[in-house]
Amino acid sequence: PTVYFVDADGGQHEAEVDVGTNVMEAATENFIDGIVGECGGVLSCATCHVYVDKEWLSKLPDASEQEEDMLDMAIEPEDNSRLSCQIEMTEALDGLVVHLPKRQF
Ligand code: FES
Repeated sequence: PTVYFVDADGGQHEAEVDVGTNVMEAATENFIDGIVGECGGVLSCATCHVYVDKEWLSKLPDASEQEEDMLDMAIEPEDNSRLSCQIEMTEALDGLVVHLPKRQF
């Protein structure tokens, strides 16, 4: 499946992602600037914060309580904020669009 990363300046980057890989890993493997993933995906950093495109938001499983708590630590969270390490790719998410925040710190 393909994920589209849209940076804060509107630049779009496309990445082929294996099913079962999370979006934070996909971003770092593809050298996408704007997703840091400092903790390696264990919900203790919030530097993998993304804004999920509104059209895709309802297609994702709900955030866990732990993710919600950690999202409070993200910079400028919005209603469509998610931690990308908690978004695991499936075929159903082919074409997923996530927007990158201006900064993670
Ligand atoms: Fe740290 Fe996602 S990589 S919370």
